[in-house]
Amino acid sequence: MAPSVAEALAWLRERLKEVDADTAETEALWIVAHALGLKPARVWLERRTPLAEETWRWLQEVAKRRQAREPLAYLLGEAEFFGVRLEVSPAVMVPRPETERLVEVALERLVEEKGRLRIADIGTGSGAIAIALAVHLPHATFYATDISPEALAVAQRNAQRHGVAERFQWAIGSLFEPFRRPSGREWEEGLPLDAIVSNPPYIPTALLEALQPEISRYEPRQALDGGADGLEVVRALLEQAPFFLKGRGWLFCEIGHDQGERALAWARSQPLWEEVEVLPDWGGRSRVVVARRAGEGASPWA
Ligand SMILES: C[S@@+](CC[C@H](N)C(=O)[O-])C[C@H]1O[C@@H](n2cnc3c(N)ncnc32)[C@H](O)[C@@H]1O
Repeated sequence: MAPSVAEALAWLRERLKEVDADTAETEALWIVAHALGLKPARVWLERRTPLAEETWRWLQEVAKRRQAREPLAYLLGEAEFFGVRLEVSPAVMVPRPETERLVEVALERLVEEKGRLRIADIGTGSGAIAIALAVHLPHATFYATDISPEALAVAQRNAQRHGVAERFQWAIGSLFEPFRRPSGREWEEGLPLDAIVSNPPYIPTALLEALQPEISRYEPRQALDGGADGLEVVRALLEQAPFFLKGRGWLFCEIGHDQGERALAWARSQPLWEEVEVLPDWGGRSRVVVARRAGEGASPWA
């Protein structure tokens, strides 16, 4: 016979302690709440209710997968980012709290901008950054790209889910490729952009295997691997982005906590950037490169 909610919670907590004793209690509560379709705070009210057999089987399966270090967000199929609930799957990196800082920094600057903003999200993954911005910037339109068609499909569903899809265009391609296809140049009408946001892959290849198993075994490698020194994609982005921005247009790019000085030096060596800075996350570590394109509103495409 299936156990009661309280018994299942205790059983799950014990299994999850083998993964991480500090988070076992909270994770067990989230998983049971998800299984019952309740908010975590309401689970205790149901403590004497027997679980349905099917729910109990699902919990046992989830415990096994979590013990194999599958990320909780993949097991639940969703994650919370900047107050927005997003579908996630192994096709996308689980959005991180550090990236909320990028959204915050971008919003602080973009809410002051007048007119209909055009914003590109390069490497959109689950769509986390662009969708969080879209929710708060009702007059902005978005061009979201990724090299992964599977990731883009997840992002498209997330944009639908949050009622912002009609302000999005999507394309598969590396960096700014979708803006300059020789035949079609499908997105040229979107240029010049007012802002570019990106959380590119920035982990040095040699460090990938040493990451915690939730990341190294399950998250898409192309979402993580930043090449030999971690900065290959960041450098390419800093090099190419000014050609797609209007004068005084913004770049917001996430970097690793130990990459601030190198990213800053690279950005400053590029003649089309001015006002380059690296802002810290809430832990005080380097996290977001902010740069403005030189020039007074002139389009590099004019
Ligand atoms: C670190 S993840 C970020 C995902 C999402 N923006 C977020 O912040 O949660 C990087 C994403 O960039 C994509 N990507 C990697 N290299 C790329 C490239 N050269 N051009 C476009 N997208 C790329 C990956 O597929 C992945 O979805």
